[in-house]
Amino acid sequence: MVTVTVLPHHEICPEGATVELNEGDNLLEGLHEHGVKIEHACDMSKACTTCHVVIRQGFDSLEEMDDIEADLLDRAWGLEPNSRLSCQCIVADENLTIHIPKYTLNHAKENH
Ligand code: FES
Repeated sequence: MVTVTVLPHHEICPEGATVELNEGDNLLEGLHEHGVKIEHACDMSKACTTCHVVIRQGFDSLEEMDDIEADLLDRAWGLEPNSRLSCQCIVADENLTIHIPKYTLNHAKENH
């Protein structure tokens, strides 16, 4: 089991969350199953950036992103060096700590 610590996000999980996932689990799906409802506007088809998260711990344990993910992330709100699309992350053998950016691109367009 891998422990995923989700830092508090004002809407999605105000108190933060700690969930246990298995190696090989999809990060976005695993978090959803535990009630952490990260947005996923394109239904995980790598066509939006609403599932953007920043991996604060355990980033190097994840498989490297491909070019499509990298291109999409370039458009994400609050991009950081350790940003990933959570729908493309497969949990490996290290615990993760993730930060959900305050806004998604959808929100940013609405001038929040
Ligand atoms: Fe759209 Fe992840 S849900 S890219």
